[in-house]
Amino acid sequence: MNQKKTDILIIGLGLAGMTAAIIAAKKGKKVTIITKTKELSSGNTPLAQGGIVYKGIEDSPEELKKDILEAGSGHCWEEAVDHLCEHGPGLVKEILIETLKANFDKDGDGYKRVSEGAHSKSRVIYKADQTGKNIHQSGLKYLQSLENVEILTNHIAIDLLTFSHHSTASTDIYKKPACFGAMVLDKNNNSVVAFLASKTILASGGIGQLFLHTTNPKEATGDGIAMAWRAGARCFNLHYVQFHPTALYHPSGRFLISEALRGEGAKLVNAKGREFMQEYHKLGALAPRDIVSRAIHNQMLKEESDCMFLDITEKDKEWIAKRFPTIYKYCLNKGIDISQEPIPVVPAAHYNCGGVGVNLVGKTSLKRLYAVGEVACTGVHGANRLASTSLLECLVWGYFAGKDAIEDKDDADYFPPMHQWEQGNQMIDTAQIAQEWLTIKNTMWNLAGLIRSQEKLHTAMNILRNLQSDVEKTYQKSKLNNNIISLRNGAQTALAIISASTEARQSCGTHYVED
Ligand code: SIN
Repeated sequence: MNQKKTDILIIGLGLAGMTAAIIAAKKGKKVTIITKTKELSSGNTPLAQGGIVYKGIEDSPEELKKDILEAGSGHCWEEAVDHLCEHGPGLVKEILIETLKANFDKDGDGYKRVSEGAHSKSRVIYKADQTGKNIHQSGLKYLQSLENVEILTNHIAIDLLTFSHHSTASTDIYKKPACFGAMVLDKNNNSVVAFLASKTILASGGIGQLFLHTTNPKEATGDGIAMAWRAGARCFNLHYVQFHPTALYHPSGRFLISEALRGEGAKLVNAKGREFMQEYHKLGALAPRDIVSRAIHNQMLKEESDCMFLDITEKDKEWIAKRFPTIYKYCLNKGIDISQEPIPVVPAAHYNCGGVGVNLVGKTSLKRLYAVGEVACTGVHGANRLASTSLLECLVWGYFAGKDAIEDKDDADYFPPMHQWEQGNQMIDTAQIAQEWLTIKNTMWNLAGLIRSQEKLHTAMNILRNLQSDVEKTYQKSKLNNNIISLRNGAQTALAIISASTEARQSCGTHYVED
């Protein structure tokens, strides 16, 4: 079996992984980043439209904290929220603005700011509706200039390496559970390689593709949670899956229509042009996301309508095309001129507030394993995430995980002798894979979506238990490729979300259970 050794292995190339890589590489460590896509631009970071929380005029960490806690429905970990509010704005300046030279739209000497749902201040800075893309490109450019950083595309992690699962030294079972790298499929030549690392940082992103309708890219299949779960790392809050209220409703699929439109005054209306959000919350269309999503869903049921509408036609065409170029062009391509007509919108799976449990520096319950970004659960988001805090969390936890990974020396140089890799050789039936994905997506959407019930969750549990066990059997005998690895992860993570949902004691935030 091929082996490769590095100081820090980072699985995922979004803002969280990039930030950790920059911090570790600047201290001279050898950093290897792997991403499962062929392209360098992958995951949710480049798709982030709205912006990133910075600071508003006459704003304070206390006010940001209050908004995060309120949106989180009383379920946030306060220490983590303090950590984010205390370090976030400083790191936006130090890393994004000064180091990466990322661009944000300017207003005189300062930055333009917008408000979004449940923010009491306009404190979100942005680059048109391409904030994430701009940050991602600046980060890539910077990383590519560092000699000790290796970026490997087309590499998908299969499993994390742990003493208890992969060591042939039988007494390693008595050591504290630890991770010493990952088994990886190099898709360029279909070879399995053991990447040995002193520290491993999971930064593999989200889970949106487990649901029928999502704003997430095709690679968001819950890989990190599945690998951490199998390795025995603690995961929590998995039942808190956030649905974005406004995804474009179009036969070709869903597409994010940023919350920043509502921040700039777009109205949420029904087919007759009537605003309805005041009936649901005093903040109207700028209420927390879970409330707006359910209100849209409810209104659709009440009016027997396929969608609701977001109306920004009060603004000039030129202004719209400049402020929201991505959305404007995308919709125009689909035959919708958003400067002339309201945008048909529906909720779609968007963000996982739960994940692999970590402390303030991104450490998981396994030694030598960190998790950052959407795959992690820092506790900041509680039961429902405040808009535009995800990139900020990537930055703060990426920074502290990168720092801790180079400072913490605990057992970091032990690499046990390993079992030989045994690979199945059966070709996988692609129709079977497609069918199993459809089952996962439909089950999660219909039975574990915006409005849940214990009965629906129990049905989902039965379906997914059987499916996960069948997929695992197929995986064991298959010749590996991206499809079977992603499906195995998707099935595992979907089951973990359903387990967490059935065990949750109360309906709260995004986990909304009807009696
Ligand atoms: C948006 O632009 O509405 C999405 C940003 C976020 O998820 O915070």
